[in-house]
Amino acid sequence: MERVAVLTGGGDSSGINAVLRAAAVSADEAGWTLLGIKNGWRGLLDDDLSELTPKNTEDISHLSGTILGTSRTNPFKIEGGVAQIESNLKKNRISSLIAIGGDDTLGVAGRLAATGLPVVGIPQTIDNDIFGTDYCVGFDTAVNQCVHAIDAMVPSNNSHQKDMIVEIMGRDNGWITLSAALAVQADYVVIPERPLELDRLIASLRERKEEGRRACLVLVAEGIELPWHSRGEVVDAFGNKALEGVAHAMAAKVTDQTDWQFRVQILGFVQRGGRPTALEMKNSIEMGQYAIELLKAGELGYMVARREGRLARLALKDVSGKKCVVPDAAIAIAERYGCFGKR
Ligand code: F6P
Repeated sequence: MERVAVLTGGGDSSGINAVLRAAAVSADEAGWTLLGIKNGWRGLLDDDLSELTPKNTEDISHLSGTILGTSRTNPFKIEGGVAQIESNLKKNRISSLIAIGGDDTLGVAGRLAATGLPVVGIPQTIDNDIFGTDYCVGFDTAVNQCVHAIDAMVPSNNSHQKDMIVEIMGRDNGWITLSAALAVQADYVVIPERPLELDRLIASLRERKEEGRRACLVLVAEGIELPWHSRGEVVDAFGNKALEGVAHAMAAKVTDQTDWQFRVQILGFVQRGGRPTALEMKNSIEMGQYAIELLKAGELGYMVARREGRLARLALKDVSGKKCVVPDAAIAIAERYGCFGKR
């Protein structure tokens, strides 16, 4: 009987538990044992794992977070980390490993695969920025969380005639921000893929106000670079900087130039929770199943990908180190519908 293990690393999202459930059901159907590793790569170093079965995963799919726990542990930054992983895999008679996570987690998976370890990856990050897949587990729910949160605030902004700048997660890209901006019909959106044109932003908001808009709504992605704003130097084990706070710098600058006062709302971790959307559930189940299908076929060293609607596989070595940013075509649509103001 094959013994397969699964871990979830990096930033969590909704949809992970549905992947775990699907993997547990598919593994069981194949007559395999599925072991859940606790707290990402940390649990593989600490030998912290327990079995996942169709029974004990019965009621988890709709829950956000990950029942396994997660961490941003990088085994390549720990002395003897990779040897420890190999030894624990051997000790537990684990024949293959499924790693669920974003570019950091999949980057580790790719490096381990290159050393000959039997690994398969599943792309999961609200940021939706994994190269080679059109979709990452967690993205749709994160966008919908933003939409619900913004919808809940707009009536108050309108009542009080207060403009608002909302800061949205996404690291170096604007996937969540742009998608949410289209959905809520923001007056202006600022994303890393498009340098900020401050004059255009101010002119656009001024025009909206003159048209009678009671409260303008601006969405900014946390990863935008503003020449007048510097971030702290603190990084995690993968070298990622903490990004939160750019919306305040943005608001201060616009206030400086106009005298307009802004409400600033950093949406934060609400984006990582919430019941998975129906689309999320479907994708998570399909990706979880597909990972087991790859293992059954002996296809190791691959990431599950969704391309043009279909599931596919892509070599992990071709994934890491590359980013998937918002394409010009998507920006052009948002432009046409007024998210970058008027020219
Ligand atoms: O990568 C997912 C993500 O939610 C980013 O959008 C955000 O910048 C980051 O994680 C926050 O990380 P942490 O959980 O370490 O604060």
